[in-house]
Amino acid sequence: MEKYFEFINSVKICAGENALENIPYELNFLGCHTPLILSDAGVSKAGILDNLIKILDSAGIPSDKTFTQIPADSDISVISEIASMYVSAGCDGIIACGGGSVIDTAKGVRLVLSQNNVDDILSLSGNETIKKGKHIPFIVLPTTCGTGSECTSVAVIKNHKTGVKMEFISSELLPDTAFIDVRLTATLPPRLVASSAMDALCHCIEAYSGIQKNYISDSFATTAIRLIVTNLPIVLTKPTDKARADLALASTLAGIAFSNSMVGIVHAIGHACGGEASVPHGNAMAILLPECMKYNLPDCKTEYGELLLYLAGPEVYADTPEEQRAEATIQWLENFEKTLNKICGIPLKLSDYGVTKDIIPNIAKKAINDGAIIVNKRNAGIPEITEILNKCL
Ligand SMILES: [Fe+2]
Repeated sequence: MEKYFEFINSVKICAGENALENIPYELNFLGCHTPLILSDAGVSKAGILDNLIKILDSAGIPSDKTFTQIPADSDISVISEIASMYVSAGCDGIIACGGGSVIDTAKGVRLVLSQNNVDDILSLSGNETIKKGKHIPFIVLPTTCGTGSECTSVAVIKNHKTGVKMEFISSELLPDTAFIDVRLTATLPPRLVASSAMDALCHCIEAYSGIQKNYISDSFATTAIRLIVTNLPIVLTKPTDKARADLALASTLAGIAFSNSMVGIVHAIGHACGGEASVPHGNAMAILLPECMKYNLPDCKTEYGELLLYLAGPEVYADTPEEQRAEATIQWLENFEKTLNKICGIPLKLSDYGVTKDIIPNIAKKAINDGAIIVNKRNAGIPEITEILNKCL
């Protein structure tokens, strides 16, 4: 029998053709009549919100309560500001349309509203410190294909005063409904597609090889890996609606996997790189993944070996002797990233983001205090993390 585990995904997923047209029905079902629409300037500018507003208008649902200036690295002060706006505008639900920062900010807003704690989100940070609160209808329209935040119990929000990215972990953060529609990711530039997808791939690999893996999250992770490696090259070179839709869905599946089995050392160091040097999350994942896997190899040989099947396909898997599969998996990923670099120029070194040797001690110190390090299969301290960072410079 497998060791004890828990698994939750209560999010209703509305995916595929014309998914967005079901928004009015879902809002009505959730009892939301005056939604607060949250987004960022990029999504607004790309015209993605226009579709949403047209759909709301045609159903007679007010679309004029909006906050569309959520910054890329959102902060706890933004959450307080939006929560106050929600109350004063008389809203009764939240629609988040954007990438990870928009969705995580929306989760924070919903959390403080449901916990009736608008002024002190800091007291709610950490792992499962939150009790069930008032239900605030919450639907999410992800516009990137990486964070999977639409289906995770996690929000990462920066505290600019301390430079620390704080994690909030609770099933109370799960949205009610997520809409996966190809129109939401159609204008994503190739470099962002690639870095987001590498984030999703990282979610799968860390969920599959961490100490909290289980059969259910494994099945989400392995399906997502196949969808990512099959569809990402197509989206970057000859995009089709099917490939875009499958890549977006893969990100959601990866989110479900890691929300239950957590992530590990790649995310611990990546969060620290984001907090200390503003390295974009997806790019940090792509850069750190191979070296972190080499570090984890002694403890993750079986899991990494199994992943060769989903990454490289059945022929390569069958042709590779069992004892060489784990190393072959890492090699395959390094080649995959080099190909992505050739196609769209995603950076392969931390120095491309201004990380220098002198800030590595600060990054390493932050990484060992990150929650993700706890579920990594192989223990790592400051010397080991420093070595990984030096290899990725
Ligand atoms: Fe991530």
